[in-house]
Parts: sequence; C-alpha cells; structure tokens
Amino acid sequence: MTYSIEIERSTAPKTKPQEDQLGFGKHFTDHMFVVDYETGKGWHAPRIVPYQGITLDPAAKIFHYGQSVFEGLKAYRAEDGRLLLFRPQDNFKRLNLSNERMHMPEIDADLAMAGLQELIRIDSGWIPSAPGTSLYIRPFVIATEPSLGVAPSAKYQFLIIMSPVGAYYAEGINPVKIYVESGYVRAVKGGVGTAKTAGNYASGLKAQEEAAKRGCAQVLWLDGVHRKYIEEVGSMNVFFYIDGKVVTPALSGSILDGITRRSVIALLKEWNIPVEERTISVDELFEAHERGALTEAFGSGTAAVISPIGALYSENGDIEIGGGKTGELAAKVYDTLTGIQYGRVADPFGWTYEL
Ligand code: COI
Repeated sequence: MTYSIEIERSTAPKTKPQEDQLGFGKHFTDHMFVVDYETGKGWHAPRIVPYQGITLDPAAKIFHYGQSVFEGLKAYRAEDGRLLLFRPQDNFKRLNLSNERMHMPEIDADLAMAGLQELIRIDSGWIPSAPGTSLYIRPFVIATEPSLGVAPSAKYQFLIIMSPVGAYYAEGINPVKIYVESGYVRAVKGGVGTAKTAGNYASGLKAQEEAAKRGCAQVLWLDGVHRKYIEEVGSMNVFFYIDGKVVTPALSGSILDGITRRSVIALLKEWNIPVEERTISVDELFEAHERGALTEAFGSGTAAVISPIGALYSENGDIEIGGGKTGELAAKVYDTLTGIQYGRVADPFGWTYEL
C-alpha cells in the first residue's frame, strides 16, 4: 500500500554537530514524522514537518496518567555508502505490544515504515559516518486527549524524531560498573516491565542516581518478588559467561524482550556456544565468581550496543569480572553485530534493511 505523506520542508536547516562530540540524544535532525489518532477516525494526517515543539493541552492525559510508549532503533552509514536499518519491523511490532499493554491503539506498522523511510530520505545528511556513530531513531506514541478522567485517551499522536549519536555510556566501549539494586525494584510479572513505557524509566532514576554516587553507570535490577533473580539493567539486557556457557535471564514477564538480546542469542547459537535463557540468582553469580567460573559479563541494547560489564557492586560486596577488561566473547559479539549493522560483514540472518 502506498501512503500519502504530506511534506513540509524546513526553511532553516540546522548546523550539524561535530561527529566526535555527539554524545547520546542531544542533537536532533531537521524534520520529524507525525500522525494523529482519534477514536472513530483512526490514524490520519501523516506528515513530515520541520523539527519543532508540539503544543498540548495541559490536561492531555500523557501528563497525568502516563500513556506513553517508545522504541529505539538506528540507521547506519555503510562504508560503501549504503544506508542501513537493523530489524526495523521488529521495533514496530514491539511498539504495538507496548501499545497493547498500555491500552493504546495499534499503529499501522506499514505506515510507520513508510514515514520512517521518507524521513530518513529527507534527513539522510544527518547519518554520521565516524566510527561508532549512527542515527538513533526514536518512534513514540503519546495520549493527547484533554481529560482528567482515568480512562484510555480518545486521541493520540505518533511521532518519529531522530538524533545523530555516538556511544551511550561515557565509558564508550570500555567496561562499565553496574550496581546490583537490592532496595528499589523495576517491575513485577503482570506489570508493565515488558513494555517500553516512559514510567519504567522514570521509576529507575532514583536508584540510578544512587548507583552513580558509587561510581556505577547503571543499576542491575533484581526480581520484585524474591529480590534475588537477575532481571535487566534498564537500558540493556544482560549476559554472563559462566563455565563456558552464556546465561541470560529468561523473558519472565517483567523484562524487556530486547531486539539486540535476540540477535546476540542467535549469534551465539550460530557459533555453537551454549546459551541458556533461565533464572539466574545474584548468589549464583557471586558463587561462580568465587570459583573463577564467571569469566565475562556484558549488556546488550540498541543504544548500549554491546557493553562489557567490568565490575558488579552490591550491598554484600563488589566483584571484578574478567580483570575489569573487555572479554574475548563480548568483543567478538560486538564486532560481528556492528559488522552486520554497518554492512561490513555478511548478514546471513536477513536483519539488515537497506534504505
Ligand atoms: C534503546 O536502547 O534504544 C533504549 O531504548 C534504551 C534507553 C536509551 C532508554
């Protein structure tokens, strides 16, 4: 199906930031994609407009009851000039799972893809080319109906904004220290932990700040019931290399089904490295470390890519993993995954999407 997307071009293109000073999510391209929704009318008026503020009524439900979901994916500039996306349809599928959980209307994934392609075509000059840089794409849906009754909104807006980015963590590709959080919890089964919804991130900020005071980049969340099983980091899923096997927490109903997580598991299987998706307690991890069996740990995410974990700090003591250095397996996963994403190595999985 072809969609009629109205385009209004910016008359004042912005100066692009220097590629060695991008950071994460600080600069935005010249345009954005917008679609409106109203009960009875469905999604309508898809348009690309100059990047600008949006005006919402102060009573819009997003401000009061938090109906808000988002996604994160990236566009890459290959050395041969091709522009590539990584598994974009999976992002729109997941956006709709988040929409479903938050009682929000499904977006039309084909319209979203058409809008994204057009937006990238118009702003393609914003895809950086320096090593380790990419164009981070943030699709999101918000509830816009002005009404204070606690009920699903009758109006929504779906937007896509884009930001040229470098590394997510200040550590770059060097190992990060993570704090094992034993007080606060992120999510419980039956809650909204599997959805990419704003509140999951807001509720983690306090613990993150406390972790930062201890020199840690992020928080490692434990399950909300027993407070002992490892869940995720919030900005990434986690993997532990123990006794020659890779263990990652199973999708228990409270953690995010990461697209990078899925890709890492597929790569490990391809390499015949045993990978177990199961519950893993923090005690098992510390015990494995004690007997020298925990050789590597790393996180995975769109923003974080593959981020080695060099140390875990906790209330009951701290451990260094792999001498605090990037392990061989994490490096191989990083090289292969980014090789596929940037079109440097063959993609036998069909993950790359050429624009
Ligand atoms: C991503 O990796 O795209 C995320 O959404 C994590 C974080 C930046 C919120």
